[in-house]
Amino acid sequence: MGKLLLLNGPNLNRLGKREPDIYGSETLEDIKEKIIATIEPYQYQVDAKQSNHEGQLIDWIHEADKCYQGIIFNPGAYTHTSIAIRDAISSVDVPVIEVHISNVHKRESFRHTSMLASVCEGQIVGLGSKGYQLAAMYFIK
Ligand code: DQA
Repeated sequence: MGKLLLLNGPNLNRLGKREPDIYGSETLEDIKEKIIATIEPYQYQVDAKQSNHEGQLIDWIHEADKCYQGIIFNPGAYTHTSIAIRDAISSVDVPVIEVHISNVHKRESFRHTSMLASVCEGQIVGLGSKGYQLAAMYFIK
Protein backbone atom coordinates (compact mmCIF):
# COMPACT_ATOMS: atom_id res chain seq x y z
CA MET A 1 0.00 0.00 0.00
CA GLY A 2 1.47 3.40 -1.03
CA LYS A 3 0.83 6.51 1.01
CA LEU A 4 0.51 10.15 -0.01
CA LEU A 5 0.18 13.25 2.16
CA LEU A 6 -2.28 15.96 1.15
CA LEU A 7 -1.04 19.11 2.85
CA ASN A 8 -2.84 22.44 2.76
CA GLY A 9 -1.69 25.74 4.18
CA PRO A 10 -3.37 28.90 5.44
CA ASN A 11 -6.99 29.75 4.63
CA LEU A 12 -7.53 26.56 2.66
CA ASN A 13 -9.76 25.25 5.47
CA ARG A 14 -12.17 27.88 4.12
CA LEU A 15 -12.40 26.34 0.64
CA GLY A 16 -16.03 26.18 -0.44
CA LYS A 17 -16.82 29.45 1.37
CA ARG A 18 -13.73 31.44 0.44
CA GLU A 19 -13.90 33.55 -2.77
CA PRO A 20 -15.75 30.82 -4.73
CA ASP A 21 -15.32 32.78 -7.96
CA ILE A 22 -11.56 32.16 -7.63
CA TYR A 23 -11.35 28.89 -5.72
CA GLY A 24 -14.60 27.11 -6.63
CA SER A 25 -17.24 25.61 -4.38
CA GLU A 26 -15.54 22.37 -3.34
CA THR A 27 -14.38 21.90 0.23
CA LEU A 28 -11.11 20.28 1.32
CA GLU A 29 -13.13 17.23 2.31
CA ASP A 30 -14.55 17.02 -1.26
CA ILE A 31 -11.01 17.28 -2.64
CA LYS A 32 -9.76 14.54 -0.32
CA GLU A 33 -12.65 12.24 -1.36
CA LYS A 34 -11.80 12.76 -5.04
CA ILE A 35 -8.15 11.93 -4.41
CA ILE A 36 -9.18 8.76 -2.56
CA ALA A 37 -11.39 7.72 -5.50
CA THR A 38 -8.51 8.41 -7.91
CA ILE A 39 -5.75 6.53 -6.10
CA GLU A 40 -7.57 3.68 -4.33
CA PRO A 41 -7.62 1.44 -7.43
CA TYR A 42 -3.80 1.62 -7.38
CA GLN A 43 -3.52 0.55 -3.70
CA TYR A 44 -2.63 4.02 -2.51
CA GLN A 45 -4.08 5.87 0.46
CA VAL A 46 -3.96 9.53 1.48
CA ASP A 47 -3.64 11.34 4.80
CA ALA A 48 -4.91 14.93 4.79
CA LYS A 49 -3.64 17.75 7.00
CA GLN A 50 -4.31 21.48 6.98
CA SER A 51 -2.83 24.24 9.09
CA ASN A 52 -2.86 28.01 9.16
CA HIS A 53 0.52 27.98 10.94
CA GLU A 54 3.89 27.96 9.24
CA GLY A 55 5.70 26.03 12.01
CA GLN A 56 3.07 23.30 12.03
CA LEU A 57 3.42 22.83 8.27
CA ILE A 58 7.20 22.60 8.70
CA ASP A 59 6.86 19.97 11.45
CA TRP A 60 4.54 17.89 9.24
CA ILE A 61 6.97 18.10 6.31
CA HIS A 62 9.78 16.83 8.57
CA GLU A 63 7.58 14.01 9.91
CA ALA A 64 6.54 13.02 6.37
CA ASP A 65 10.10 12.05 5.45
CA LYS A 66 10.35 8.28 4.85
CA CYS A 67 6.60 7.86 5.60
CA TYR A 68 5.07 8.96 2.30
CA GLN A 69 5.81 8.47 -1.38
CA GLY A 70 4.89 12.09 -2.05
CA ILE A 71 3.37 15.27 -0.68
CA ILE A 72 0.64 17.12 -2.57
CA PHE A 73 1.09 20.59 -1.13
CA ASN A 74 -0.91 23.76 -1.52
CA PRO A 75 1.08 26.17 0.68
CA GLY A 76 -1.42 29.04 0.18
CA ALA A 77 0.14 32.46 0.67
CA TYR A 78 3.25 30.96 2.32
CA THR A 79 4.24 30.04 -1.25
CA HIS A 80 5.18 33.63 -1.84
CA THR A 81 6.94 34.34 1.45
CA SER A 82 8.29 31.32 3.28
CA ILE A 83 11.99 30.58 3.09
CA ALA A 84 11.46 28.42 6.19
CA ILE A 85 9.05 26.12 4.33
CA ARG A 86 11.44 26.04 1.39
CA ASP A 87 14.23 24.89 3.73
CA ALA A 88 11.94 22.24 5.24
CA ILE A 89 11.21 20.81 1.78
CA SER A 90 14.93 20.81 0.97
CA SER A 91 15.67 18.98 4.21
CA VAL A 92 13.59 15.88 3.38
CA ASP A 93 13.79 13.21 0.68
CA VAL A 94 10.05 12.93 0.07
CA PRO A 95 9.11 14.59 -3.24
CA VAL A 96 6.68 17.51 -3.10
CA ILE A 97 4.35 18.83 -5.80
CA GLU A 98 3.23 22.43 -5.30
CA VAL A 99 -0.43 22.85 -6.24
CA HIS A 100 -2.40 26.06 -6.71
CA ILE A 101 -6.10 26.01 -7.48
CA SER A 102 -6.03 29.40 -9.15
CA ASN A 103 -3.69 30.52 -11.90
CA VAL A 104 -1.44 32.65 -9.74
CA HIS A 105 0.24 34.06 -12.86
CA LYS A 106 -3.01 35.73 -13.93
CA ARG A 107 -3.37 37.40 -10.54
CA GLU A 108 -1.55 40.07 -8.50
CA SER A 109 2.19 40.26 -9.17
CA PHE A 110 3.02 39.27 -5.57
CA ARG A 111 1.55 35.84 -6.38
CA HIS A 112 3.87 35.33 -9.36
CA THR A 113 6.86 34.38 -7.22
CA SER A 114 7.16 31.04 -5.47
CA MET A 115 9.82 30.55 -2.80
CA LEU A 116 9.14 26.83 -3.06
CA ALA A 117 8.84 25.84 -6.73
CA SER A 118 12.56 25.32 -7.32
CA VAL A 119 12.83 22.80 -4.47
CA CYS A 120 9.66 20.94 -5.50
CA GLU A 121 9.42 18.08 -7.96
CA GLY A 122 6.95 20.16 -9.96
CA GLN A 123 4.14 22.66 -9.82
CA ILE A 124 0.50 22.50 -10.95
CA VAL A 125 -1.19 25.86 -11.27
CA GLY A 126 -4.60 27.07 -12.34
CA LEU A 127 -6.34 23.74 -13.01
CA GLY A 128 -8.79 24.15 -10.14
CA SER A 129 -9.22 21.36 -7.61
CA LYS A 130 -8.34 18.84 -10.33
CA GLY A 131 -4.71 19.87 -9.85
CA TYR A 132 -4.65 17.90 -6.60
CA GLN A 133 -5.80 14.72 -8.37
CA LEU A 134 -3.26 15.20 -11.15
CA ALA A 135 -0.51 15.57 -8.57
CA ALA A 136 -1.67 12.37 -6.83
CA MET A 137 -1.58 10.46 -10.13
CA TYR A 138 2.01 11.58 -10.72
CA PHE A 139 3.09 9.81 -7.52
CA ILE A 140 1.47 6.49 -8.44
CA LYS A 141 4.25 4.12 -9.40
C1 DQA B 1 -3.46 29.57 -3.73
C2 DQA B 1 -2.86 30.84 -4.35
C3 DQA B 1 -2.19 31.71 -3.29
O1 DQA B 1 -1.67 32.88 -3.88
C4 DQA B 1 -3.20 32.11 -2.23
O2 DQA B 1 -2.57 32.85 -1.22
C5 DQA B 1 -3.93 30.94 -1.67
C6 DQA B 1 -4.40 29.91 -2.59
C7 DQA B 1 -4.24 28.74 -4.76
O3 DQA B 1 -4.53 27.58 -4.46
O4 DQA B 1 -4.60 29.23 -5.83
O5 DQA B 1 -4.20 30.87 -0.48
O6 DQA B 1 -2.40 28.76 -3.23
